[in-house]
Amino acid sequence: MSVAIVTGAGSGIGLAVAGKLAGQGYKVVVNDFDGTAAEKAAAGIGENALALQGDVSDENDVARMVEGCIETFGAPTHLVNNAGHVHQSAFTDLSVADFDRMISVHLRGTFLCTRAVLEGMLSAGKGCIVNMASQLGQIGGIELVHYSAAKAGIIGMTKALAREVSNKGVRVNAVAPGPINTPLVRALSPEWQAAKAAELPLGHFGEPEDVADTVAFLCSDEARIYVGQTLSPNSGDVML
Ligand SMILES: NC(=O)c1ccc[n+]([C@@H]2O[C@H](COP(=O)([O-])OP(=O)(O)OC[C@H]3O[C@@H](n4cnc5c(N)ncnc54)[C@H](O)[C@@H]3O)[C@@H](O)[C@H]2O)c1
Repeated sequence: MSVAIVTGAGSGIGLAVAGKLAGQGYKVVVNDFDGTAAEKAAAGIGENALALQGDVSDENDVARMVEGCIETFGAPTHLVNNAGHVHQSAFTDLSVADFDRMISVHLRGTFLCTRAVLEGMLSAGKGCIVNMASQLGQIGGIELVHYSAAKAGIIGMTKALAREVSNKGVRVNAVAPGPINTPLVRALSPEWQAAKAAELPLGHFGEPEDVADTVAFLCSDEARIYVGQTLSPNSGDVML
């Protein structure tokens, strides 16, 4: 049986990933900082889903989340490190607190959740981890130094861990979406959104389900030779 933990699954991309995996028969832990959103998401998905509130940057919350998963569904076979937030600030105005929070949620959160499940996966000789990066971790974003740095860090962590554990049966990959139609992007200025859509080769943003399809592929056996890769559902915005 496949058991996935999806962090930040109360909204947007994580919600779509949780729904997609549950539809494929996975048991899914729907984690979110926002407990009400997690409950609502899990209720919408049905009996294959379990809501577990928790902050991915908090070591105790992460331990509680993994224990809850083991109690209800068994040891996680898949982890999707998706939780995140965005915050725009010119570099000269960027506070230490905002910088630290960005690194803490994205980079420390990815590290803590991975650390909490990896031993079990290594013991089982099988596992799969998908980390949500961003194309801004590849090309940088204006007034998004902290976000871009955190996402580039996630790509680096993905590659390094993939080198360390793939010959022990655990595959680690990343996804670097372009602009996707979620509350996170809708919080950015309307001017930015309109200008961004106009410059995309495809002419429009992706939907959360488009990213969920990429994640589900990486989670599947069809992706058995994908190791340390960063896939790019991005409407053609960045071509590497
Ligand atoms: N939407 C995009 O265009 C886009 C593009 C590239 C990458 N991403 C990344 O995709 C991921 C999901 O973003 P989204 O667009 O679906 O955003 P979203 O705001 O719709 O959903 C993010 C969810 O994560 C939760 N969350 C935030 N901090 C958390 C924490 N510390 N612990 C647990 N949960 C937490 C939020 O409560 C929210 O429900 C993020 O990592 C984001 O950086 C998004």
